[in-house]
Amino acid sequence: MSEAEPEALARPKRIGVLTSGGDAPGMNAAIRAVVRKAVYEGIYVYGIMRGYAGLIEGEMRPLDERSVGDIIHRGGTMLQTARSERFKTDEGFAEACSRLRESRIEGLVTIGGGGTFRGAMKLVDAGFVVVGIPGSIDNDIPETEYSIGFDTAVDTALDAIERLRDTAASHSRVFLVEVMGRDTGFIALASGLAGGAEDILIPEIPFDVDKLCAGIVASYKRGKRHSVIVVAEGAASAWDLGKVVAAKTGYDTRVTVLGHVQRGGRPTGFDRTLASQMGAAAVDAICHRHAGMMMAWRSGKVEAVPLADVVGKNKPISTNLVELARVLAI
Ligand code: F6P
Repeated sequence: MSEAEPEALARPKRIGVLTSGGDAPGMNAAIRAVVRKAVYEGIYVYGIMRGYAGLIEGEMRPLDERSVGDIIHRGGTMLQTARSERFKTDEGFAEACSRLRESRIEGLVTIGGGGTFRGAMKLVDAGFVVVGIPGSIDNDIPETEYSIGFDTAVDTALDAIERLRDTAASHSRVFLVEVMGRDTGFIALASGLAGGAEDILIPEIPFDVDKLCAGIVASYKRGKRHSVIVVAEGAASAWDLGKVVAAKTGYDTRVTVLGHVQRGGRPTGFDRTLASQMGAAAVDAICHRHAGMMMAWRSGKVEAVPLADVVGKNKPISTNLVELARVLAI
């Protein structure tokens, strides 16, 4: 007797997509890919506004292939975003679950970072089919080499570092450039190394201000006439540090905090291609009812990894690159 054919999984009829947490350049490209791939597969898509906050409020609208025209190259997110405190409460979470059920959304794509995936995991545990796409300029999401927005943010920081180097060299000044990265130093490391920074300060490595200043003085003695120090916001406040560096070295010192400039702007080609591939793969995962997965970039391709391996974990950083930046800046 032949074995019964496994019952084919019914394709979802309706899915939702939202962006949550800090926006990142390339999120729009990911939304476009989710919507167009779903339409291609004959699935209706609802765009949920303002992340989990909008989900709780039932702020959603149907999206078709034309709704996502002319956005692949734009920064920000057409769905807007938020960090919802209410979603973390039992009441808010229950409301979000009710909204999903009453809208008959059978699968949800969440685009964001650590907080977004903690929320996604709760929904998975409550029985929903949720798939994550990593979108964060911080690039601190474990299990994926890149998250959407990081490449663009590094380029933005680099552009600023290069401009600042011009004026630093002209005035023989020390410049402290503060980049984003509250808990991690990925942007500082990449932009500092690529920008030829004299030193890079990241939250993962405690630094000694006397050693930093001694390094600057030593570099001037070797013939340098300016110094660019890249500081991740989580390592120190560049404003406070600038005063100490000026006092200890005696050199003319200036501080520039790049701030939210790093979050906007047109996404790089890499971020757009990453977002396009991850968006399409997320819809595939939902079609196969692979709940609780996150799209990850590994060795040049998109793979699905369990959200459980991502949530609450830290992504290791190559701390040896700080030393490399120092060696290459002699
Ligand atoms: O998580 C991305 C990020 O840009 C961090 O680098 C930064 O510390 C934080 O968001 C800033 O958050 P907000 O936009 O809420 O000020």
